[in-house]
Amino acid sequence: MTQGNVKICNANTQDRAAILAIHMNAFGVDDGEVIAKLVDEMLDDATGEPMLSLVAEADVELVGHLLFTSARIEPDHGQVSAKILAPLSVVQHRQRQGIGGRLIHAGLRQLEEVGVDLVFVLGYPDYYSRFGFKPAGVQGFQATYPIPLQNAGAWMVKELTPGTMEGCQGIVRCSKALDHPKYWIE
Ligand SMILES: CC(C)(COP(=O)(O)OP(=O)(O)OC[C@H]1O[C@@H](n2cnc3c(N)ncnc32)[C@H](O)[C@@H]1OP(=O)(O)O)[C@@H](O)C(=O)NCCC(=O)NCCS
Repeated sequence: MTQGNVKICNANTQDRAAILAIHMNAFGVDDGEVIAKLVDEMLDDATGEPMLSLVAEADVELVGHLLFTSARIEPDHGQVSAKILAPLSVVQHRQRQGIGGRLIHAGLRQLEEVGVDLVFVLGYPDYYSRFGFKPAGVQGFQATYPIPLQNAGAWMVKELTPGTMEGCQGIVRCSKALDHPKYWIE
């Protein structure tokens, strides 16, 4: 997919260093190192497979990255395929140019094509609601670790297969690398 001079592509193994640098830059000095280390672990974590890792490429520079990893819903809804969107970053000098949105749209489209039913995210409600994400708690989906009440609206879900949420609720268990309370504060 190409628009302007920015292309959205599936990441490959040679992109690893550039991907970590994107998160370092986007999250800044306070959180950048923590998130880059997390992404490094997530990309090697078999419990998150199958995962979808997308990059935004501007000319020869990678300027954005988005990762979706697998999740499961307990009690066992084995027939329901779920992913968690995390993290998403766009380098500071390319923010507010629609790149984050294009990564999200491209990712959701690919996931829909392979039959993923639900996508969860813990993030800015005002941003993710633009892409059809809705509060997940009121739908009966609990995050891997309880979200503080004041941030409850940040835990969201998007239904890719209509009707999946009827009769499906429970605790959303994430991949091993993401399974730490410090990543579930928002
Ligand atoms: C959040 C982020 C990925 C958005 O990427 P982007 O390419 O700048 O986003 P887009 O261009 O698609 O969308 C920009 C819009 O999102 C809005 N937006 C950006 N961050 C936002 C936030 N924290 N809350 C609400 N809206 C936000 C902008 O205000 C802008 O609105 P406008 O279209 O009305 O001007 C990027 O700002 C980023 O990398 N931030 C640092 C890392 C981060 O916080 N990641 C998200 C983790 S949930």
